[in-house]
Amino acid sequence: MESRGTVGRVDRKILVVEDLKTHFKLPAGMVKAVDGVSFDLKQGQTLGVVGESGSGKTVLSRTIMRLTLGNNVHTSGRVSFEDRDILSLSNKEMQKIWGLEMAMVFQDPMTSLNPVVKIGRQVTEHVRKHLNVSKSEAKATALQLLKGVRIPEAEARFNAYPHQLSGGMRQRVSIAIALACGPKILFADEPTTALDVTVQHQILNLLNLQQQERHMAMILVTHDLGVVAGRTNDIAVMYAGKIVEKAPTWMLFSRVQHPYTEALLRSIPRTNQKNHTRLSAIAGRPPDLINPPQGCKFSPRCPYAQDKCREEEPTLQAAQSDEHQFACWYPVGTPENKEAFEKNLAAQLPQTLAFAEGKVVDESVIDNAVALSGGGS
Ligand SMILES: Nc1ncnc2c1ncn2[C@@H]1O[C@H](COP(=O)(O)OP(=O)(O)OP(=O)(O)O)[C@@H](O)[C@H]1O
Ligand code: SF4
Ligand SMILES: [Mg+2]
Repeated sequence: MESRGTVGRVDRKILVVEDLKTHFKLPAGMVKAVDGVSFDLKQGQTLGVVGESGSGKTVLSRTIMRLTLGNNVHTSGRVSFEDRDILSLSNKEMQKIWGLEMAMVFQDPMTSLNPVVKIGRQVTEHVRKHLNVSKSEAKATALQLLKGVRIPEAEARFNAYPHQLSGGMRQRVSIAIALACGPKILFADEPTTALDVTVQHQILNLLNLQQQERHMAMILVTHDLGVVAGRTNDIAVMYAGKIVEKAPTWMLFSRVQHPYTEALLRSIPRTNQKNHTRLSAIAGRPPDLINPPQGCKFSPRCPYAQDKCREEEPTLQAAQSDEHQFACWYPVGTPENKEAFEKNLAAQLPQTLAFAEGKVVDESVIDNAVALSGGGS
């Protein structure tokens, strides 16, 4: 499949993240929220970052944007944004990057909107703050932005307060603000989890449209693999602060290798489920990030776990294709994996029994995700 947004041009890497770690020092110990993450992102491309609650998605995004603050924060590694070493820039230098070159859309638009200021003024002020334009030019730009994010009757809504708009409209306003200065990269952290299903699709489609029109890079953070199917070029699956599988989207859906990704795929919320279904389908709990299990951190929940998994942590490696990397000793679909499963089934390992019962399996959901991502075509 041809990469979306790159037809006929070779894009350069806009963001390079190398061995990024963000640890929080707490009285109980060190929380390894992000623990050695590496990836790169080209201009005009979208990366989906997927994982359960607490896997480190938000901390990763905020660390790249230099928004993880506090005396107890220990960050190491390298973030190169357009060849600038982000982790070593001063706050003054970052001020020139925030909003202008890097922007973020949050889960709850009320986080980014001021409840007591009319939305038109909020967008106008943002434009004026970052771009050297007159008041009337800023107002015209703001109106254009509101129309661009498909706010109906934008002129009339210019004087509305956030509470007078629906959740979806408010999210459109915060997207307008995020896009106001033409950022080169947009972080969208669960931008639709607070919205109902229909509006969720509209907002995601809007983000995609804007990303493509502007040839902007985007990091789309979500706990739902269904959201990134068909909307991203690549996917990075996070578990306990690490990327455990990374591949072009179509490849990931067609040839899933990591058991955790497989579990996520089996728990894609079905269309007839209530919105914002948190992942509850994977047996067991996410690991304690202060005292994680030895070896592979997914081993207490993995239906294929063997002694080796409980002793040695696998590292991210490529197998058939350099583009597809995963960290697992018994990858899905291999004879070793089948053997491990049968061994665990015979030993009646609880997570293997639960998996075999297939409570959450719905092959049509998986087929649908593969089709959406362009895989298998
Ligand atoms: N300031 C902090 N101090 C200590 N621990 C923190 C801090 N911020 C985040 N954490 C911990 O880091 C881990 C990763 O958190 P993060 O918010 O990145 O998860 P997430 O993947 O975004 O989850 P969700 O899907 O719920 O948004 C969690 O265990 C969280 O409790
Ligand atoms: S290394 Fe072992 S425990 Fe970890 S995901 Fe792979 S099979 Fe499961
Ligand atoms: Mg989060």
